[in-house]
Amino acid sequence: MSGHPDIDALVDRARADVASARTTEDIRAVAATVSGKKSPLAEAGRRLGTLEPDERRELGRALHEARSTIEALIEERRSTITADELARQMEADRIDLTEFIAGAVPAPAGRGRLHLVTQTRDSLEDVFVGMGFEVAEGPEIETDWFNFGALNIPPAHPARGMWDTFYLDLGAPESTLLRTHTSPVQIHLMETAVRTGGLPIHAVMPGRCYRRDTPDARHLPVFHQIEGLVVDEGITFADLAGTIEVFTAAYFGPDIHSRLRPAYFPFTEPSAEFEVTCTICHGAGCRTCSQTGWIELGGCGMVDPAVFDAVGIDADRWSGFAFGFGIDRCAQMRHQIADLRALIENDIRFLRQF
Ligand code: PHE
Repeated sequence: MSGHPDIDALVDRARADVASARTTEDIRAVAATVSGKKSPLAEAGRRLGTLEPDERRELGRALHEARSTIEALIEERRSTITADELARQMEADRIDLTEFIAGAVPAPAGRGRLHLVTQTRDSLEDVFVGMGFEVAEGPEIETDWFNFGALNIPPAHPARGMWDTFYLDLGAPESTLLRTHTSPVQIHLMETAVRTGGLPIHAVMPGRCYRRDTPDARHLPVFHQIEGLVVDEGITFADLAGTIEVFTAAYFGPDIHSRLRPAYFPFTEPSAEFEVTCTICHGAGCRTCSQTGWIELGGCGMVDPAVFDAVGIDADRWSGFAFGFGIDRCAQMRHQIADLRALIENDIRFLRQF
């Protein structure tokens, strides 16, 4: 207290004004009002000149003290405000990387999955690998020789009518085509084995095939097959039949069986069609299996000696069997898909069921 009620009142008012300042702007304005050139403090200072020396000295000291007090209050308030504003700014600038703002961010995408055909191919491979087969692949564009010639189907042979073929004009001397089956991979494997001394062969060959077929409930012009080939010493038709039966039970379940019916393929002799118990009616007979209780899955037979000749394998020493069937057809049978075209329509409501 200065002993001067007017000066004390001045300091009290300044204290209240300073305390009410909230922002940097406020405190600048308050500072001008309570200690600037036009402030009551400055006014009082200017009036000192009119006073007697003693009075002037005393009042001058009191005013000086009051100014120090007020300026200290202003500084203190200013630094509090600055610290507060900085803290507020930092809070506003903070980015919370873990924060989820409903509506601001798209809902997390659902997890994808393999297409049913890929899943089916994988599980077929698993079954055959478990039986001791290796997995091999071959090209989708073939020459006439691999797709037909080496498989004992010479040009103009009526057996070519079994495969409606997409021919490609690549300007090569030999005609090229989209493979109509996976059987040409047999030729690649046997040629390589002859070159590298790689016999015997126990392999399955999955892959995409093409035929000029009109799509319907059981056919697609682009489809998938898995081929099997065994070339070894002393292989008989019983090995073929046993392999097909073991595969059928392993893949479709113990109550589904296989049967072989005589058929013709130029590259196997004898040849058979390979059928499995209809998975829709479990053999009782229904519309899908035309009341027979059986569904055809593919073809098979003993490798024709003419094929061994074409690749240079000694048919007196080696024998073998081959089979080939549709992967898409397997998926259809196992999951009872009425129309195969559902596999290529990309309807997510269908695909996400598997
Ligand atoms: N490649 C034949 C087809 O697509 C199936 C088959 C493969 C038949 C192997 C016999 C042996 O029709």
